[in-house]
Amino acid sequence: MRHQPVVSLDHLSEGELAAKLDPELLPKHVAVIMDGNGRWAELRGLPRIEGHREGINSVREMISLCLELGIQALTIYAFSQENWNRPSQEINALMGLLEHYLSTERTGLIEQQVRFRAIGRLELLPPSARHWVRRTEQETAHLDKMTLTVALSYGGRSEIVDAVRGLLADVQAGAIEGERIDETLFQQYLYTHPLPDPDLLIRTSGETRISNFLLWQLAYTELCFTPTLWPDFRRREFLLALLEYQKRERRFGRILSAISS
Ligand code: IPE
Ligand code: IPE
Ligand code: MG
Repeated sequence: MRHQPVVSLDHLSEGELAAKLDPELLPKHVAVIMDGNGRWAELRGLPRIEGHREGINSVREMISLCLELGIQALTIYAFSQENWNRPSQEINALMGLLEHYLSTERTGLIEQQVRFRAIGRLELLPPSARHWVRRTEQETAHLDKMTLTVALSYGGRSEIVDAVRGLLADVQAGAIEGERIDETLFQQYLYTHPLPDPDLLIRTSGETRISNFLLWQLAYTELCFTPTLWPDFRRREFLLALLEYQKRERRFGRILSAISS
């Protein structure tokens, strides 16, 4: 952390918070573990799905703020491989919500010039959800103002295993010589290629773990954990996370004088 006086930002309006951001120091890629939907609903005596439904509004606000600020990549964790172990009623409701989101927000994404991509073991999704994922990917493939990547049926370890399999297939086919394998080549086989690694990871709901998300890509990402539940994580909270990010000193193993010289 840079040595700065601790100043409370609580009294500042959204516009004042935005004005405090240094446009030169914005992250290029933000990743989010959107957690706490169930607890948000339970606190209100509502079924868990209502928390997931409300969380869509947070996604919408985050996309629009990224577009306003010029943040070009947003990757959100919507459904993990481990989430398949939840009760089928919740899984079905989540898949229904995913289809609803894609079928209704698709045109908005196109208008905003957002490219949509899904990463994960998508073959495990129900056919109708897979249809909307593919359709949205195809219809937004040419857009480049921002890339929205949604991790669905996603696991970080599976992603690494799938990358190994892809690489092995190319070596066996003679397309790649084994000696050429290095970190740069390997990452080209990850689902997220060609996105840069996230600069900032935000996890909501007070949990301080990675839960099998982007295990390779987070090697030098700044981590920001907030107690706010995902449906309450709106523009203001995102601005606060970005201000927190801008206070961090990214050293990448070096010492500060060597970075600035
Ligand atoms: C995150 O919210 C969304 C998904 C994992 C699909 P949760 O459903 O995990 O909400 P909590 O953590 O139980 O509150
Ligand atoms: C992580 O949240 C996955 C998503 C946000 C999609 P979980 O609620 O599934 O994670 P754990 O079980 O608390 O680690
Ligand atoms: Mg959770």
